[in-house]
Amino acid sequence: MNENLISAEDSAEMLALLANIEERTHSFLGYPVSKDFDYSPLQPFLQYPLNNLGDPFISSTYAVGSREMEKYVVKFFAELFRAQTDDWWGYVTNGGSEGNLYGLYLAREIYPKGMVYYSESTHYSVQKNIHLLNLPGIIIKSQPGGEIDYEDLEAAIRLNRHLPVIVLANIGTTMTEARDDVYQIKNILKKLAIRHHYIHADGALSGSYSAFITPRPAFDFEDGIDSIAISGHKFIGSPIPCGVVIAKKSHRDRIARSVAYIGTLDTTITGSRNGHSPLFLWYALKKMGINGLRARAEKSLETAAYAEARLNEIGIAAWRNTNAITVVFPAPSAKICQRFQLAVENGISHIICMPGVEKQQIDEFIAALTKEMVMV
Ligand SMILES: Cc1ncc(COP(=O)(O)O)c(C=O)c1O
Repeated sequence: MNENLISAEDSAEMLALLANIEERTHSFLGYPVSKDFDYSPLQPFLQYPLNNLGDPFISSTYAVGSREMEKYVVKFFAELFRAQTDDWWGYVTNGGSEGNLYGLYLAREIYPKGMVYYSESTHYSVQKNIHLLNLPGIIIKSQPGGEIDYEDLEAAIRLNRHLPVIVLANIGTTMTEARDDVYQIKNILKKLAIRHHYIHADGALSGSYSAFITPRPAFDFEDGIDSIAISGHKFIGSPIPCGVVIAKKSHRDRIARSVAYIGTLDTTITGSRNGHSPLFLWYALKKMGINGLRARAEKSLETAAYAEARLNEIGIAAWRNTNAITVVFPAPSAKICQRFQLAVENGISHIICMPGVEKQQIDEFIAALTKEMVMV
């Protein structure tokens, strides 16, 4: 046996896993993950221990990494999110959850006595993040579509107006892809004369494409946010979960600490950082460009409109938030949920028309639902 290879038995196990992944990837419709990427030209990089240790903008003693690509990715999104020239910074994270942790960490360093406000539709990781950061938080009611209830937000802030305000705004909630309106949040802060405030935007799914929507939703730096997190494996697509966090540089400067061992600044949550993900994102952005991303968003919105209409046609009360690629409907049978990997919460389920989801796949889903309805 060649000592560089694994045994025939292990090899068979690996191939069986591959076949299973291929099959499960084709059928899923319920999670916000793009599957239409081809990163095969990047294969040679798997031979190397890429590690973007520490701050992406300051070179490290450890020089095997993809910092230049990471800086490109961060700048691309800083510009897309209309950050003020010379007051932006960011890095490629392990996903949206880490980006949210980072935004809330900056907020806490600026306002240690701050109160976090977030809607009941917020992703589960946020509650964990504020617990980790030992920050107090208030859960605000959501409107039926999942957007934050601004009256409840105002009432809660009014009761605690002696405390700095940290708002976590959802730019696409997990179940219904509702967007909280940063413009309305800013108005509440103005109305209550709150001087000390921080707004973090959780744009895990919709943050990546909200800039391409007309009318443009209020979600970015020009609208008044202090930081934003997106996931990279969702709208763009990546074989490894990843994300990007962008924050005002002035905020990041408050936590920067020089560490001799790594020869750079310790400004990120983890020290060692995946050097392959920035390369995937760089490659995708170079390949698609702004126009490619816009076309991607338009195609997903079109597929979502198609799915909503087809579901309504067969008598299912499906609906969508404005300009959302998530189609919501009453939870179908456990069998359908399992086959298409659909999440269920409080009796509702959804399909997410991510890039790579074709109308033919929607038709397969409709056919499966129709067959079940006929059998009942
Ligand atoms: C609204 C929202 N925030 C955060 C996350 C977490 O993102 P990630 O899975 O990239 O950590 C998700 C994931 O689905 C999400 O929907």
